[in-house]
Amino acid sequence: MKKIAAFVLALALAAGALSTPAVSIGARAAGKKLVALTFDDGPGPYTSRLLDGLKARGVKVTFFMLGSSAANYSGLVSRAYQEGHQIANHSYDHSELTGLSDSQVRSQIKRTNALLDKACGKGSTYLVRAPYGSSNARVRAAIGAPLVFWTVDTLDWMYRNAQTVKNNILRDTFDGSIVLVHDIHSTTVDGALSAIDVLKGRGYEFVTVRELFRRRGRNMANCVEYESSKPNGVDLGPVKALSITAEPADGKLRVTIKAQSGAGIYYSTDGSSLNRESKRYSGPFLVKTPCTLRAVAAFDMNGSRSDTVEKKLSMPVAQAPEIRIDEGVLTLTGKTAGAQIHYTLDGSAASMESPIYAGPVELQPGAVVSACAGGKGMLSSGESRAVYSGRGNFFRDVFPNHWFYESVDRAVSAGYLYGVGNGRFCPGDDVTRGQLAALLYRYSGETVFEQDLEAMPFEDVERGKYYAAAVAWAYSRGIVSGVDEKSFQPERGVTRQEMSRILCRYLEVSGFSWDGPGEELPAYADAEEIAPWAESAVKRASELGLMMGDDKGNFLPKESSARSQAAAVLMRLSDLLSGGSSDPSEM
Ligand code: NI
Repeated sequence: MKKIAAFVLALALAAGALSTPAVSIGARAAGKKLVALTFDDGPGPYTSRLLDGLKARGVKVTFFMLGSSAANYSGLVSRAYQEGHQIANHSYDHSELTGLSDSQVRSQIKRTNALLDKACGKGSTYLVRAPYGSSNARVRAAIGAPLVFWTVDTLDWMYRNAQTVKNNILRDTFDGSIVLVHDIHSTTVDGALSAIDVLKGRGYEFVTVRELFRRRGRNMANCVEYESSKPNGVDLGPVKALSITAEPADGKLRVTIKAQSGAGIYYSTDGSSLNRESKRYSGPFLVKTPCTLRAVAAFDMNGSRSDTVEKKLSMPVAQAPEIRIDEGVLTLTGKTAGAQIHYTLDGSAASMESPIYAGPVELQPGAVVSACAGGKGMLSSGESRAVYSGRGNFFRDVFPNHWFYESVDRAVSAGYLYGVGNGRFCPGDDVTRGQLAALLYRYSGETVFEQDLEAMPFEDVERGKYYAAAVAWAYSRGIVSGVDEKSFQPERGVTRQEMSRILCRYLEVSGFSWDGPGEELPAYADAEEIAPWAESAVKRASELGLMMGDDKGNFLPKESSARSQAAAVLMRLSDLLSGGSSDPSEM
């Protein structure tokens, strides 16, 4: 506010608001008495002193800033935002918006928003106050945001007297009012701060404009004018502080943040300040220590958020020990200096109460090893697990509770399938067409001849690859065919219908005699997806129990097969060919 013309308008508005008998002291509705102080036309040379005073009093206010001033005092925009005040838009250069074209109005708002975004983060929402309170339907539409007027006009810009500013605030403030002052006057800073002290004594809580409406359950709509938010029996209460918990996980910390229902959580892990562009929490996450974690709960990051919670996570986390099993001897290697290793051999999760590892341990077949590390001044590690199988295999990713454990153990022991090294089997990885050929080749125990390699027509099977001999053998025996005359696509995942046909061919060439099903199986729900060339093989593989559908009755003919499934299928095939023996010890 700067002009006398606007003064008259302001008086009219204020008088209108005050004539409604809103706030008798006796009729206090549920919740606290709320008031929103709004500071216009800054930031300026006195804003810093005002922020100090507000901070000392734990009071949050709203700043309707001019873009031109925000450009000159960008540090103060950031400070006001970081200290929890609401940042709002008062046009770029205090033009009377009713005298501007629509595009000029939009430009005044957009230019200012862009400057405020530097502190508040891109995409923040800004309430707007039109200079001189001068607006109309056309201006409201061009602004496209909620417009905020006031119910208490202190006329601070005219009186320039701290005592008068204080008295005017005290005289006119009521529960739900919006108070207009200007932080570009030193006298206003003094008057407003003294008024705050008195109003606090009268039971007022100071909130941002956004909070004044949210607390009373009211939405603020774009292009609508607001001048107060009187008591309505609703008080949703302040945004509650959030809680941060952290627990060790694999040499890191898993952080969980909880906030009240409906509030979003924004956080940073590098100690940086938070705004709307900060990371949004969607669930527990891992951090390395040391780190400084900051988080806020927010209904709106600009004007409706909790205080920032900062947590320094400095205690180091021990790294989980490395498990090695060679020839049945267990070796555990620590990765964190000063940490002690604890372990169990019965499958239960190791903890700091478990026996301490003092040196290599001879294992019984079937032992499931669990180990962790920890010690004084550090958080204990997550768990490392491995199994020393009944057949003497060392697995880190295949355990007795997996349905494919027995098959994988058999297949690896027999040398049909290999691990990928260091105890890993990667049971979920796809099996390629080349791998399936290699697997059957090893299983057959047969030998490929030089002329078979020469006769193989596939140009995409390089002779030096591990599967070249296997593909040549399988092709010569009629077990596999190409996808066309010249290509085999050895590196492509084998589909389930391809696998069933290859397995049936293998059974045929092995002289397996089969009398047909005792009982016809029901058709698969996705039978129409099975290619005509695979129909009889899928049927036969199903009837023999080699390959089965999922629990919804689908065969999934075009899905690829995992290594775990290939191991299981190969062992069933082996049982069929060896006369139905399912005793794994005979492998
Ligand atoms: Ni103004």
